[in-house]
Amino acid sequence: MKLMVVGGGGREHAIIKKLKENPAVEHIYALPGNGGIAADATCVDIGAKDIDAIVNFAVENGIDYAVVAPDDPLVLGAVDALEEKGIPCFGPRANAAIIEGSKVFSKDLMKKYGIPTAAYEVFTDMDKALAYLKTAPIPTVIKADGLALGKGVIIAATREEAEDAVRSMMADKVFGDSGSRIVIEEFLTGPEVSVLSFTDGNVVVPMISSMDHKRAGDNDTGLNTGGMGTVAPNPYYTSAIAEECMNTIFLPTIKAMNAEGRTFKGCLYFGLMLTPNGPKVIEYNCRFGDPETQVVLPLLKSDLLTVMQAVTNGTLAETTVEFADAHACCVIMASKGYPSAYEKGFEMTIPETVADTVYVAGASLKDGKLLTNGGRVLGVTAVADTLSEAIEEAYARVKTISFENAYYRNDIGARALKAGENH
Ligand code: AMP
Ligand code: GLY
Repeated sequence: MKLMVVGGGGREHAIIKKLKENPAVEHIYALPGNGGIAADATCVDIGAKDIDAIVNFAVENGIDYAVVAPDDPLVLGAVDALEEKGIPCFGPRANAAIIEGSKVFSKDLMKKYGIPTAAYEVFTDMDKALAYLKTAPIPTVIKADGLALGKGVIIAATREEAEDAVRSMMADKVFGDSGSRIVIEEFLTGPEVSVLSFTDGNVVVPMISSMDHKRAGDNDTGLNTGGMGTVAPNPYYTSAIAEECMNTIFLPTIKAMNAEGRTFKGCLYFGLMLTPNGPKVIEYNCRFGDPETQVVLPLLKSDLLTVMQAVTNGTLAETTVEFADAHACCVIMASKGYPSAYEKGFEMTIPETVADTVYVAGASLKDGKLLTNGGRVLGVTAVADTLSEAIEEAYARVKTISFENAYYRNDIGARALKAGENH
């Protein structure tokens, strides 16, 4: 079989490595991929948002199955366009990807169907938003409606910060059109859990839970990033909580999307907060998380392609999806300065001995040399029987790799380790 994976980060590298385990897979194309992914797939210089070029490439190259991984092409209708040409795909159509594409849509969906989430108000008028803030409880959370590269959420600790956030989104348009509508919502507290799930619109099969580390610095300090590391499973997510989430969040969401005529097929990511009043949805993503995928897929015992095809064919209920009874830790090696300005173009080498679970997020290939080419450069993963061994091994692997200006957090998994001791 000839496969095509749309995207070019660490998440896509993890998906490609897993898909390759199936002996029926003869060839994988990555659009656009990156210099590190080139070791596992043929990279094609077509951007993930260039839907016409993606479809043409798939048709001309006889692609048998496509996986669309990033949010942008999903929201732009890549799956719809590929399916129109008869190419089976993993990923939701545009009318379902809106669950991530519009925060107003997802908040209204949850309100309509009684799915627990933070209380909220929607504003299209800046003066009304500012007036509302005069009496809103503080801290408060301001969110741009549309996609904003994961940056469209501002937690405001003071009224002034909240007002500045509203002005920057609605008047200064720092997130472009994404900020023409905003959501102002209740500030929730509690441990966060990421639950990725497979769903074919009939059943929902949660994958092993995980914990992201979003802040740039140790002890959760500094700016928000795309994610500096992950562990799986998440020790806060007990089996009792998992059962509650299935009944109050996962199944109701699938049913709600069906009732709206927006059946979701693909990977639905539930960003949850375990609040003192029970689990609540912080956000939905219409795709695999990055870097959650880099710890979840190494623990998947079942064949990924088989599971993905079952999602496409609506036969997930009859398909086994099994995870190893083990732990994984992924440490992101980034470029110093990320998520603000950083330099790139530094040479790196990944020793053969660790390459199996190093996922390349941002690298280019020049004259046979691998060069840093992004904020997040590598996701270095290890799998072990216990969390502490997984953490230790991930950091041992990190120490075998070096490049100029490399930066990583030193405490990935530390909080999970502590929580695990108390559970
Ligand atoms: P997002 O970009 O939607 O993943 O949000 C970034 C982060 O903001 C989340 O991971 C949470 O830590 C935080 N966040 C979002 N909404 C809320 C909320 N209502 N209360 C507290 N924290 C929140
Ligand atoms: N790691 C969070 C995300 O993929 O959105």
